[in-house]
Amino acid sequence: MLNLLKSSVWHPNTQMKEWESFDKITNGKGIWLIDSDGNKMIDAVASMWCNVWGHSNPQLIKAISDQSKKLQHSSQFNLTTEPAEKLADSLVKTSPGMHKVFYSDNGSSAMEIAIKMALQYWKNIGNEKKTEIATLENGYHGDTFGAMSVGYVPEFFGKFKKQLFTTIQFPVPNKYRMLKGLTINDYQNFCLDKIEKRFSKKDNIAAFVMESGAQVAGGVVIYPKGFQKKISQICKKYDVLFVLDEIATGFGRLGSMLQYEEQKSIPDIVAYGKMLTGGYLTMAATLANKKIYNSFLGEFNDWKHLFHGHTYTGNPIAAAVANQNLKMYKKNNLIKKIQKTSKTFKKFYSEILEIDIVGDIRHKGMLMGIEIVKDKSKKIPISPKQSINKIFFEEGKKNGIYLRTLGNIVMIVPPLAITESELNLLLKRTILTIKSAKSKVV
Ligand SMILES: Cc1ncc(COP(=O)(O)O)c(C=O)c1O
Repeated sequence: MLNLLKSSVWHPNTQMKEWESFDKITNGKGIWLIDSDGNKMIDAVASMWCNVWGHSNPQLIKAISDQSKKLQHSSQFNLTTEPAEKLADSLVKTSPGMHKVFYSDNGSSAMEIAIKMALQYWKNIGNEKKTEIATLENGYHGDTFGAMSVGYVPEFFGKFKKQLFTTIQFPVPNKYRMLKGLTINDYQNFCLDKIEKRFSKKDNIAAFVMESGAQVAGGVVIYPKGFQKKISQICKKYDVLFVLDEIATGFGRLGSMLQYEEQKSIPDIVAYGKMLTGGYLTMAATLANKKIYNSFLGEFNDWKHLFHGHTYTGNPIAAAVANQNLKMYKKNNLIKKIQKTSKTFKKFYSEILEIDIVGDIRHKGMLMGIEIVKDKSKKIPISPKQSINKIFFEEGKKNGIYLRTLGNIVMIVPPLAITESELNLLLKRTILTIKSAKSKVV
């Protein structure tokens, strides 16, 4: 089939042949995206889950503009900048147990760095045995090779399986798709037992890597209470580093500043991204505790230092906007506001669940995943081969919302500071969209 697309851009995770054109977004204002014809859509996915205050926020724009007039970029190699120092101080202050901040410019890199820190830690302290990484099935940590290895989602990464390093994967208690006859508690204990049995058998695991609070790209699987805490305790017991990915779930997305605090599971290493700059510029950070950091200290020729660095590491404009963003979290009591606004989702649970292609809804904070199924009574999912993204995108557009589905999950991930009335509007439009997409999906 001929590809009629008149554009030089190759779009991410996109079968380009499906598209004849892409709408051009020219402006953004609050929760709204505005295209070149003046059409407005609610940004229902916070521009890939990172927008906090809405588009065109004057205070964030000012922070970018002020810093860009002074210094646009200077490296972190031999030098530092005031915004990067200030941001690292606030991140350490906000993150219990953490000691140092290593900057990068996207979440996948932040996870690569976390993996390198964890593996090198054991070498640095002279332990040559601990070289394996344990993870949860269906986790997602980004699209680079290390991140793909620890977050193996078969549909996404199957083509590269041979090139990825192997990890030891454990099941995740997903309440909607549990083994028959088990309660969620039984299921959770079954998963935890598997981890403990493996850890106690062989002393070769360097780190356990998992998303904090929930798996997002893997289908919005919100962990049952105590699950993450128990894994952190098992890690402590067997001397395995505990590495958390808060890139999608931290900074208020699940209704608390940091999920690891809420889950009482302090990591050795943690990665942040997405919301760090309010969704305005690209920046990520990997934080390590004192034990990890100290293991990297030594004489130059001990070769203990971390061999990692990117051109835009710690970019001062990104750091300046992140500083302003964090200031606004405090000033506006954003986390409390999210907790209150998030209750709006509950009002729509039953109406969404009544739609016969909706199998399940999973919601926490400012994240909702709506699982679309072919057969509700048997929980048969829409085939991963069927592209429902374009259908939902187009139906969403007709209803004035911008949607990007993930597999068979309709993701509702709005800008964190969305108001209750805006969220009401978004959810009403989501219901209309699912209803109108129904006949096209099944
Ligand atoms: C949990 C998690 N980790 C890492 C990443 C990768 O971040 P980035 O897309 O900035 O590379 C994502 C992206 O969605 C994510 O959800």
